[in-house]
Amino acid sequence: MPDALRVAVLGAGTVGGAVVRAFLARPDGLVVDGGPRLLLAGVAVRDPSRAIAAGFPHELLTDAPAHLVASPDTDVVVELMGGDEPARTLLTAALEAGKPVVTANKHLIAHHGPALEAAARATSTPLRFEAAVGGGIPVLRPLAGDLAANCVERIRAIVNGTTNYILTAMARDGRGYGDVLADAQAAGYAEADPAADVEGVDAANKLAILARLGFGAWLDPDRIVRRPPSVRGEAPAGITAVTDREVTGAAALGLTLKLVADVSRSAETDAERATDTPGDLAASVVPTALPLEDPLARTSGVRNRIEVRAAPVGSVAFSGPGAGGPATASAVLGDLHAIARGGGSSWAGRTGWPDAAAPLRPPWESADRDWFFLVPSPAVPDTGALGGAAVATASMGDDIAVRVTGASLERVRAALRDGLPPERDVTLYPAEHRRPAA
Ligand code: NDP
Ligand code: HSE
Repeated sequence: MPDALRVAVLGAGTVGGAVVRAFLARPDGLVVDGGPRLLLAGVAVRDPSRAIAAGFPHELLTDAPAHLVASPDTDVVVELMGGDEPARTLLTAALEAGKPVVTANKHLIAHHGPALEAAARATSTPLRFEAAVGGGIPVLRPLAGDLAANCVERIRAIVNGTTNYILTAMARDGRGYGDVLADAQAAGYAEADPAADVEGVDAANKLAILARLGFGAWLDPDRIVRRPPSVRGEAPAGITAVTDREVTGAAALGLTLKLVADVSRSAETDAERATDTPGDLAASVVPTALPLEDPLARTSGVRNRIEVRAAPVGSVAFSGPGAGGPATASAVLGDLHAIARGGGSSWAGRTGWPDAAAPLRPPWESADRDWFFLVPSPAVPDTGALGGAAVATASMGDDIAVRVTGASLERVRAALRDGLPPERDVTLYPAEHRRPAA
């Protein structure tokens, strides 16, 4: 190892700006115990004049990221621009040149993971992306490292800070959706196009990354279910159709709506649980009704929480700030430290099947489960039509909030279809079982 590693940072916005400021605050570089110190070699932005106005030294800035990546004075590349191109080409070039890469770009890793993994493996060059999931929460390294000997059964998570911030403010303060989204954008939590947050795209990208590290398979993020079912078909994606009245109705039944990312492996026997193949995976990112005592329900604001159920460990959880410049910079800087200490890629000891896109199914396809929905009061289903499933209700003026325990999707749809006005559809939110009292 040399005495110092020179780091090129591509992007100086919310996250890149926080990383560059961390370097500028330490003129002698980031000191790494047992490894070379890390020095800032340069910063690429689209518009240097804007970066200079924001206080970044002009001598570090360039608007030519490809030159910075190719420069013999660059040893490590940190990509914090976002999006597909030119990030994909730049990172591939860095890996092919044997320059370690750190990125927070979940879109890129989720959509081009197999190719980037192949490029990194071909040159034995580290590719690290801790910041791509859960902002400042250390989760990928423990998942792929400390838990590498486990067989993962389920990962259930809140992994989008923007939507959690919006849903929390709607439930706690009764604030309107658009108003709160503007706050999340001002705080630097939202993606360049916030549709990626509110439609569940960002959370699906993160779930695909978690699945690679937990199950060894790259999922196609575009096939992860993002639309909850409705009586007549599917509701709009992510949280875009969640209404204030549904949030209030859920609270009246002791529930809260959260955008839950969930991937699980069907393993029915001990022998199946003990094998490491991806098997039959169910994956979704949909608003889910959680009992208020559920730890995910208590995860508020921009915080994220990732729960892993695995054998032999049991259940472990990771929580913390899920977005924002300083928190995400912490994860980026941690990856840089790891590279200076000779750490490998984020998948660590978790072998994978880079070419295998695992088959996916919606989690509610089979089996009875719980549901939450808001219907006009004459449309409340009777328990007979639901095969005797338990029904709890709360009156909401002209509407009724309903929780059904233990019924198939088809049974719930059939019980509601005739009672609803033909022009009206109703979102059927999957609900989690209430945990038995301890
Ligand atoms: P910003 O939009 O705040 O910053 C993007 C930066 O990249 C800007 O400095 C921009 O320059 C520069 N840039 C964009 N395109 C180019 C290009 N073609 N050439 C040179 N420079 C370019 O984004 P964020 O910091 O919020 O996000 C960066 C990445 O981190 C994304 O992948 C995002 O998903 C991810 N991320 C973000 C988190 C957050 O909380 N914000 C948390 C976790 C991950 P200019 O300003 O001149 O246009
Ligand atoms: N837009 C993302 C979020 C940023 O809100 O979670 C962190 O990945």
